[in-house]
Amino acid sequence: MELATAAAWVEPVDLNRRQQLPVRLVALERQHAPIEHKLHGAFVRLLRSSAFTLGVEVERFEEEFAAYCEVGHCVGVASGTAALGLILEAHGIGPGDEVIVPAHTFIASALAVAHVGAKPVLCDVDEGTGLIDPDAARAAVGPRTAAIIAVHLYGQACDMDAINELARPHGLAVVEDAAQAHGACYQGRRVGSLGAAAAFSFYPSKNLGALGDGGAVCTNDEVLAGRLRRLRNLGQRTKGEHVELGYNERLDALQAALLRVKLPHLDDWNDARRAHAARFRTLLPSEARIVEERPESPSIHHLFPVRFQHRDAVAAVLRTHGIETGVHYTPAVHQHRAWRADQLLCGELPNAEAWAAEELSLPMHPGLLAEEIERVAEAVDAAVAHGVHASETVSC
Ligand SMILES: Cc1ncc(COP(=O)(O)O)c(C=O)c1O
Repeated sequence: MELATAAAWVEPVDLNRRQQLPVRLVALERQHAPIEHKLHGAFVRLLRSSAFTLGVEVERFEEEFAAYCEVGHCVGVASGTAALGLILEAHGIGPGDEVIVPAHTFIASALAVAHVGAKPVLCDVDEGTGLIDPDAARAAVGPRTAAIIAVHLYGQACDMDAINELARPHGLAVVEDAAQAHGACYQGRRVGSLGAAAAFSFYPSKNLGALGDGGAVCTNDEVLAGRLRRLRNLGQRTKGEHVELGYNERLDALQAALLRVKLPHLDDWNDARRAHAARFRTLLPSEARIVEERPESPSIHHLFPVRFQHRDAVAAVLRTHGIETGVHYTPAVHQHRAWRADQLLCGELPNAEAWAAEELSLPMHPGLLAEEIERVAEAVDAAVAHGVHASETVSC
């Protein structure tokens, strides 16, 4: 869209501020600058060892991340998508099986199900949190259901008591998609330890991000962990001994070495995100519907989602104020063109569709500055003051 179109109906408030640098949605360089020397050191250490695949850096990272997540085992893999797919495969889930997935999530949560030849059954999400609605998940269980993927979206853990309770009598595997929730807790327990296995992504912008792709599976099940170690490494039990048809989905050793530098900072970074979120809550106008946070599952704010009836118009105004925003996620999973009708099952999904239509992610990262949060809040004020008019005159 034309920026000038939106600017035409925005009050020219505080021109000086508007001319400042853009407020970035994510600013990884601010996070990396203070630890740059340590990241260099990790690279040099790996270069000199020449242990580029698996090896000591991957093993150490797996131990350290398992301890952090309070689980017995961590298996490093190539991405969060690979982690989800390998968990399903290790459970023997494949053609003829159905897996329940929330309809409001990143498409990878459902893609992994399709990758193993099973069918995602999409269920609706909670209106306030955007997380899987346990009642909707219960209604989606059928004779072919093999697993449920609980996505801890935006950094907040799902209602895992309810999910585990509904899964137990049917013998369903509960898989946590913890790609957005490194360090989040549910009733005081870390995500990653709340189901049969959990998938993490280390995509660079995640709360714990690599400098490229990466992922991990956490589990307390030793047998499952052993199977995952083989599956990620071409089905090898020992060098050259291939006992099953596996994949090349190993965590890269360089990424493991870099993640080892970043992991000790994760709690501080999550605390900073929490402080920014608290500040946003005090400054944003009531027209901005902020994601609900439940006391038993304090968020680590991977994103800061806010809902507006005229989301695109608000985003356009924020852009004229130099503020970047994101949309997570539109369209809803089932509305993507990529799917053939026979690859998915879904009923009515009103809450997921409303989230997809209204969600706007405001800037959120550990290095956000107090004055940047104020600028964002002021710009949101200006946008909502002109909201209805905006929706009529701006198209994105
Ligand atoms: C909820 C969710 N699930 C799965 C993934 C997939 O992770 P990756 O991009 O590492 O494959 C992501 C991240 O991108 C995600 O946000």
